[in-house]
Amino acid sequence: MSLRMESPVGPRVIFNGREMDYFSGTSYLGLQSRPEVLAAAGECLQTYGLATGTSRGGYGESPVYDRLEAEIRAFFDAEACLYFASGYLGNTILSQGLSGRYEVIFVDAWSHFSIWDGARASGMPVVTFEHRSVDDLAKKIRDTLTPGQRPLIMSDGLFPISAELAPAPAYLELAERYDGLVVLDDAHASGVLGPGGRGTLDYYGIDSPRCLASHTLSKALGGYGGVITASAEMIDLLNRRSRVYIAASPPPLVTAAAAAAALRLARTEPELRLRLRENIARLRAGFRSLGWELDDIPAPITCLRARPGIELGRLKDALFERGIATAHVTTYSSTPPGGALRVAVFATHSADQIDRLLAAVQDILAPGAKR
Ligand SMILES: Cc1ncc(COP(=O)(O)O)c(C=O)c1O
Repeated sequence: MSLRMESPVGPRVIFNGREMDYFSGTSYLGLQSRPEVLAAAGECLQTYGLATGTSRGGYGESPVYDRLEAEIRAFFDAEACLYFASGYLGNTILSQGLSGRYEVIFVDAWSHFSIWDGARASGMPVVTFEHRSVDDLAKKIRDTLTPGQRPLIMSDGLFPISAELAPAPAYLELAERYDGLVVLDDAHASGVLGPGGRGTLDYYGIDSPRCLASHTLSKALGGYGGVITASAEMIDLLNRRSRVYIAASPPPLVTAAAAAAALRLARTEPELRLRLRENIARLRAGFRSLGWELDDIPAPITCLRARPGIELGRLKDALFERGIATAHVTTYSSTPPGGALRVAVFATHSADQIDRLLAAVQDILAPGAKR
């Protein structure tokens, strides 16, 4: 039977009439259902209506977008930004906007679908390099570029299923050596990683005009829509050159107002990230003690890889029977060979919920238990 989420998203949700612990999706800071966010959406609806019914520029501008963009600049400490219809489009906006400045795109083999679509839409040649391999990327750049050509290196920042980080400092070194640029899709890291929650580059302490990221407000940041932050000069270039930005409606005003409220909370309540990190550490320590090798990256996604004797699909079903929702993934980008049990943790999960999940997994995997 297919499932319907019949409650607001949060650490407990109702699926088809049954209340469950929810360890899936991307509501990492738990902002989507906060009263302040819902109130902002309601006020906007009363004052401005649902949407402007036209694209940005000319008559499509609104104080609601101005306020959101001020929040985006404040959160990401950025000179300028673009806000557009979905995080998925960010990589297309970037690769279209940057064609002509760079000649060949190098894409990590496990990159998100939106990177592939964006890279191909640019019309530039696309070369694949082995997943997270700096050596292979260096070799492909050496073998492919002719004198004067510049590389555009594209990868997820934080991979959505494998929960690995791109080795961004090493990519930046290559970009510096070859007069190139690194573009990271940071959909799952924005709001979470780094001291300010600004994502993968913040985590590594990278502040370089040779690295750009595309973000989404739809996951940790509790709203909806795609975001690119950069210098005013770069944003102006993307704005002028990207057909997607110029010729598509922006997210509805109500969504932008909700996103502004959620971003303000993410900026002014750093304790949300602290709680999330504590929950991640508790969850990962527990899964380590159950035999999984896991790194220490404070990623809100834990990827339980296939292991001999453990059937991940059955484990997910057995957890679901016990009232705990996780995701068994086999085809999404960055799924490791053999699939994964993807466990997402939020700032709003309680320690008890995490312990219940770990105890349930231990119980299901116990020798002699029916799996
Ligand atoms: C890695 C990655 N990039 C981009 C997106 C798309 O972002 P959005 O949902 O804002 O369109 C997703 C998933 O939704 C994703 O997993």
